[in-house]
Amino acid sequence: MTSFPHTRRLMQRGIDFLGTEYAVLCGAMSWVSERNLVSAISNAGGFGVIACGAMTPELLDAEITATKALTVKPFGVNLITMHPMLFDLIAVCARHKISHVVLAGGIPPKGSVEAIKDFGGKVLVFAPTLALAKKLLRSGADALVIEGSEAGGHIGPVATSVLAQEFLPELAEDHVVLVAGGIGHGDMIAAYLEMGASGVQLGTAFACASESIAHPLFKKAFFRANARDAVASVQVDPRLPVIPVRALKNKGTEEFTAKQREVAQLLDEGKVDMGEAQLQIEHFWAGALRRAVIDGDVENGSLMAGQSVGMVNTEEPVATIMQRLMDQSEAALAR
Ligand SMILES: Cc1cc2nc3c(=O)[nH]c(=O)nc-3n(C[C@H](O)[C@H](O)[C@H](O)COP(=O)(O)O)c2cc1C
Repeated sequence: MTSFPHTRRLMQRGIDFLGTEYAVLCGAMSWVSERNLVSAISNAGGFGVIACGAMTPELLDAEITATKALTVKPFGVNLITMHPMLFDLIAVCARHKISHVVLAGGIPPKGSVEAIKDFGGKVLVFAPTLALAKKLLRSGADALVIEGSEAGGHIGPVATSVLAQEFLPELAEDHVVLVAGGIGHGDMIAAYLEMGASGVQLGTAFACASESIAHPLFKKAFFRANARDAVASVQVDPRLPVIPVRALKNKGTEEFTAKQREVAQLLDEGKVDMGEAQLQIEHFWAGALRRAVIDGDVENGSLMAGQSVGMVNTEEPVATIMQRLMDQSEAALAR
């Protein structure tokens, strides 16, 4: 007997594309999505994705090897498009015959999609507008993730529910479209599937699973938080190319405002150019997230979290979370 027949039927295109039991991705989370969480997600029937972040090719190579030792199921790698060694990282994925590469953080640079497809990898991209989504799908991307502003981490300005209404009717018939941002309950999965999504991507709901290496204090902050505590960062200076980040309010949030002022001043004085300014901002986040996730500095570090954090109340194994989401979705669709 097949479990979750209604949900799996609506997920079929996503299941075929990912090679999984369920079309439920755990979106890459820097420092959190490493071998342990990624393999646990894939072993539970979902699709785990390694967050490469600022890793060197050597580190990515080691992480992939270690993940393969923990699961025989498919998993992907998330690469940030502005990484200075992007093509070396793609070469590492090629050596490991990684089945799916997610390109995040901006428009994929020329040749990157082709380089992945050349070794047989499937390419997943994000697109902030429908026009760009169509262009990326035309130029070789295999699947699209639409991610709304409810999500944790770097976000766009539009809510998931609005993106879903705009993108799904146009694209879902012919393409694999995965919906991300603000999903914490299976009812929501059912709703997006009924709208035509092939699957969903969650981050916040899995960040504090038992298998996640996040520091106990990071997890505690999640369990205590309500939806309204996960706030988007404010942009201090309109010139600064700051992508807003959603995280739990703390001293680190305020420090980011101060950091922006500092970088704006450097721009004024002509000491940095726009590219360097953006890099400084991104390094700030990577460092701050590490402090919270790895060191447990929940005051000064960055507690990136989506608005669904209010539904994360206790530490549970990935398999338990996955089963609950699927149970809830199935019940909703059966109703
Ligand atoms: C702690 C944290 C770190 C994240 N880091 C990344 C990242 O490095 N790259 C990326 O593409 N997305 C990143 N994300 C976004 C997730 O991959 C995912 O798309 C998002 O969490 C989905 O929305 P949700 O949090 O509402 O479930 C991060 C999210 C969180 C909560």
